[in-house]
Amino acid sequence: MIDQNRLWDAAAARSYDTPGEGMFSDAVLKPTVRTLARLAAGGRAVEFAIGTGRVAIPLAGAGVEVHGIELSTAMIERLREKVGPERLPVVAGDMATASAGEGFSLTYLVFNTIANLLSQDEQVECFRNAARHLAPGGCFVIELWVPQLRALAPGRGGTVEVSEPGYLLVDTVDTLRQHLVSHHVRFDPNVTGSREASIARTPHRYIWPSELDLMARLAGFTLESRWADWSGAEFTGESASHVSVYRLPG
Ligand SMILES: C[S@@+](CC[C@H](N)C(=O)[O-])C[C@H]1O[C@@H](n2cnc3c(N)ncnc32)[C@H](O)[C@@H]1O
Repeated sequence: MIDQNRLWDAAAARSYDTPGEGMFSDAVLKPTVRTLARLAAGGRAVEFAIGTGRVAIPLAGAGVEVHGIELSTAMIERLREKVGPERLPVVAGDMATASAGEGFSLTYLVFNTIANLLSQDEQVECFRNAARHLAPGGCFVIELWVPQLRALAPGRGGTVEVSEPGYLLVDTVDTLRQHLVSHHVRFDPNVTGSREASIARTPHRYIWPSELDLMARLAGFTLESRWADWSGAEFTGESASHVSVYRLPG
């Protein structure tokens, strides 16, 4: 198994937060927190792979009791610089197996992170673990990208996802194993001919929405809603991402 603790190390944790911008902007976080608070319905929530608390901290600020599970000690340490364990308890462990308790009304796993589990078995176990955390009638919310294999030309092994001054994002795809590795290449665009660049790689196992629904069924869930984003936009065949709400029987 790839050591996610090594991938999400001190350097990654230090540079993860971008307050007010990108994934930390109000435009992203406000609808996310509003939707999760509504789905918590007055009960407790647990975030799998809580990271540095990007979503959990504002959700707790909105009055929801939030707990977390996180594998990377560096990410937990960064979260602890912002909030103490009495306000936001976090269990160090693997979201496919670790327990933060039971009786929650909401489990959530956002920002494509179920794909950080690199086998189908681990992804199914993650659904089962979400179910173990929930009270009857509780829900599991997943935010995940839709694999964009139409962008892959026949015979080619990858795509350039972003190309801008100082940054290239190249995804390589292994369609047999359903694996995708993102290569983040950063360099100084002002130094012509420079040989200096940094590269970070993150491996994923991508999942089709229909496969995700089957994993949910194996764990006792049914699909309640699927939106294209946190504001509830309609999910269509062209949607690049989805927010899916799975519910246990009441
Ligand atoms: C893209 S970040 C998302 C963090 C946070 N959920 C957010 O939305 O900002 C992915 C996180 O997943 C964590 N992670 C990866 N594999 C994990 C696993 N098997 N169990 C728990 N956490 C894991 C990483 O350490 C990292 O903090």
